Amino acid sequence: MQIRRRDLLAGAAAAMPRGAAAGSFDINSVRADFPRTRTAAYFDNASCHPLSVQSAAALHRFIEWNTNEVGEPWWPYWSEARQQSKALFAELINARPSEIAFLRSTVEAESNLLNGMNIQAEGGNVVTNDLHYSASIYNYKMRQKAGLDVRIVKHRDWQLDLRDFERVVDKKTKLIAVALVSNVNGYLCDVKALSQLAHAHGALLYADIIQCVGAIPIDVKAMGIDLAAASTYKWLMGLKGFGFAYIREDLQGTVVKPTQHSGGVRFNYAPWTTTPDPKQEDIGFSPVTGPGRYEVSYASCSGIICALESLKYIKQLGVDNIRAHSRALTGRLQKEMPRIGYPSITPPGNESPILAFATRDPQAAIARLKQAGVHVAMRFGNKMRISPSVYNSQEDVDRLLNALS
Ligand SMILES: Cc1ncc(COP(=O)(O)O)c(C=O)c1O
Repeated sequence: MQIRRRDLLAGAAAAMPRGAAAGSFDINSVRADFPRTRTAAYFDNASCHPLSVQSAAALHRFIEWNTNEVGEPWWPYWSEARQQSKALFAELINARPSEIAFLRSTVEAESNLLNGMNIQAEGGNVVTNDLHYSASIYNYKMRQKAGLDVRIVKHRDWQLDLRDFERVVDKKTKLIAVALVSNVNGYLCDVKALSQLAHAHGALLYADIIQCVGAIPIDVKAMGIDLAAASTYKWLMGLKGFGFAYIREDLQGTVVKPTQHSGGVRFNYAPWTTTPDPKQEDIGFSPVTGPGRYEVSYASCSGIICALESLKYIKQLGVDNIRAHSRALTGRLQKEMPRIGYPSITPPGNESPILAFATRDPQAAIARLKQAGVHVAMRFGNKMRISPSVYNSQEDVDRLLNALS
C-alpha cells in the first residue's frame, strides 16, 4: 500500500471530532471517538489518557508509511507536523511557537531547565512544595544533598498558602517551582500570586502543567508563568515520551541556557569539500537558535503525529467546553462521594478535572470498582483519585457511585 503525503494530511483533516460546536459538544460522538468507553468507566486520565480513534488512525498511517514502500518522501509531512504541533500547543497556552521546544519528559525538562540556570553556583535558592510531583521533589532533594539551597513548602489541609511561600522566598530565590495542578488531589495553585511573588524577588516561576494542559484554560502570559513543561500522555491525549516545554523568549540562551548542544557542522577540507576556504576554520559549526536549542536530535515522530491529532481535537472541542464538561462531573462527585463515606481531600470549588477522596478500606473499594468495570487510581495508600475526561458521562458517575455505595 502506498501512503502519500496528501493521504496523511487528509487523514489529519478528518481528525476533527464530530458534533463539536461552540458552547458544548456532543458527548455521544466523543464517546465514539474513544473506544475504551465501550467496556469500562475509565476515570484514570490523570495517570494515562486513552487515545482517540483519530490519533490511532494517524499512528497506523505512520506505521504503514514506515513499513511499506512509500510514494513520497516523509520529510515534508514531518516538517509540517512539527511546526503545526508547536503552533497548536503555543496557541493552547497563549505562547508563541518560538517559545516552544519538544521534550521527552516533564520531569526531565524541569531538571534540564534548572541545570541551565546555574542557581547553585550563584548562591541562589529554589522554592518548591510538597504537592509538586514526587519525582521532581526527589530531584530537588538530591540537589539539596549536593549543596543547592532548596526550600520545600508544606501544604496545609491539601492546599498551598501564599504566606508560607512569602516566609521562605527572599532576594536569593531564583526559582519557584510548582505543579499548576497537583497529581495528588488536583489542587490548582494560585500561580499568578506565586509568579508575582517570584518576580518581585527577581526569580522565575516554573509550572509543571502536565496535569492540566488540554483540560483547563492556561494563559502563560496572564498567569505570569516563565517556564513550563508537559508531556502528552495525560490531558493532551497523546503518548508517553514526548511533550512540549515553554521557555519565555527573552530567557532563551541567557537566563536559561541550553545544557545540551544542538547545531550544524561544516567541514572545510578535502575530501569533505573540493574548494576549502582558507579563511574559514577546518570544522565550522553553527548552533541552533530559538527554542530548538533545547532539543537534541530527532523528537519522537509518533509523539508528534499523535499530539498533532489530539491538539486539533482539543481545539475543536474547545478547552472551555472541556472544562465545563468535567466540572459537571467533578461537581457531582465532590457532593456525592463524602455522603457515601469518602471525604474529599480536594478543596471545594477547585477548578481542575482531578479529585481525591480518603478511603477507609482501599482494597475493598478497588475490588468493588473492578467488579463494576470502573477504573480509578489509588495513590499514597488510601487516596482514591478520580479524573474524568471528555468522554466520561453522568452514567459513568452513576456506575462509580453505585459500586461504592
Ligand atoms: C504532576 C506530574 N508531573 C510530572 C509527571 C511525569 O511526567 P513525565 O513522565 O512526562 O516526566 C507526572 C506523572 O504522573 C505528574 O503527575
